[in-house]
Amino acid sequence: MMETGARRDPLILTRNLTRIYTVGGSSVAGINAVDLVIAPAELVVLKGNSGSGKSTLLSLLAGLDRPTSGDLLVAGHDLGNRRATDLTDFRRNVVGMVFQSFNLLPTLTVLENVLLPALLAARPAEPARRKAEELLDWLGLKSRREHFPAQLSGGEMQRTAIARALINDPALILADEPTGNLDSRNGRLVMDLLAELNRRSGCTVLIATHSDLADALATRRLFLSDGALREDACDA
Ligand SMILES: Nc1ncnc2c1ncn2[C@@H]1O[C@H](COP(=O)(O)OP(=O)(O)O)[C@@H](O)[C@H]1O
Ligand SMILES: [Mg+2]
Repeated sequence: MMETGARRDPLILTRNLTRIYTVGGSSVAGINAVDLVIAPAELVVLKGNSGSGKSTLLSLLAGLDRPTSGDLLVAGHDLGNRRATDLTDFRRNVVGMVFQSFNLLPTLTVLENVLLPALLAARPAEPARRKAEELLDWLGLKSRREHFPAQLSGGEMQRTAIARALINDPALILADEPTGNLDSRNGRLVMDLLAELNRRSGCTVLIATHSDLADALATRRLFLSDGALREDACDA
């Protein structure tokens, strides 16, 4: 990576980040003592077997879950010591999430789904609408604006979800198995779009995936194994 004179604060900083799930009498470590520093504008691919802790880490970074212990800073927000109300604000304004199962609301149109986070964050309606239209154009969904999710292909649903994740100009996009329900052509398209948005807008992107589709696009590859993180040294 290029060195600049001025040091940039990391976008993500974790130290000893640990999430222990307690169910019944037993405890399972979702992630265990994760130290991670991610600079702004990186495109990070996170690999690891099923159950290795990828979704746990993404949920913590998204402010959807709280750590058991350790430090967690995202875009200057200390998520380890946050009240629930502050986390709602953080989730609406700082991160955008993309899921394997798209998570679109079936009774809203494509345009309404994309606008929903702007509405919830009480953003001014007209600029939000313009931004939504721009995103839908960029994602090739112009003619699908008034369609409902059930009328879309999987690839179109995921592109709608990407537009929704971007509507509030997040500093960080977290994608959890974004190609898991897509065929290989649409999977590649979604990965290419995430990389393009990273290049164009400098948005930091973290993709948890089993797929190799994003490997060549990544600025960094991380590997989780039983909750422990390491830098992927396959062909560094
Ligand atoms: N809500 C939960 N309650 C209890 N255990 C959980 C919960 N979520 C995840 N786990 C456990 O934490 C570990 C990591 O899971 P997860 O983060 O979902 O992994 P991945 O996304 O890599 O498949 C697994 O052992 C899983 O069973
Ligand atoms: Mg998962």
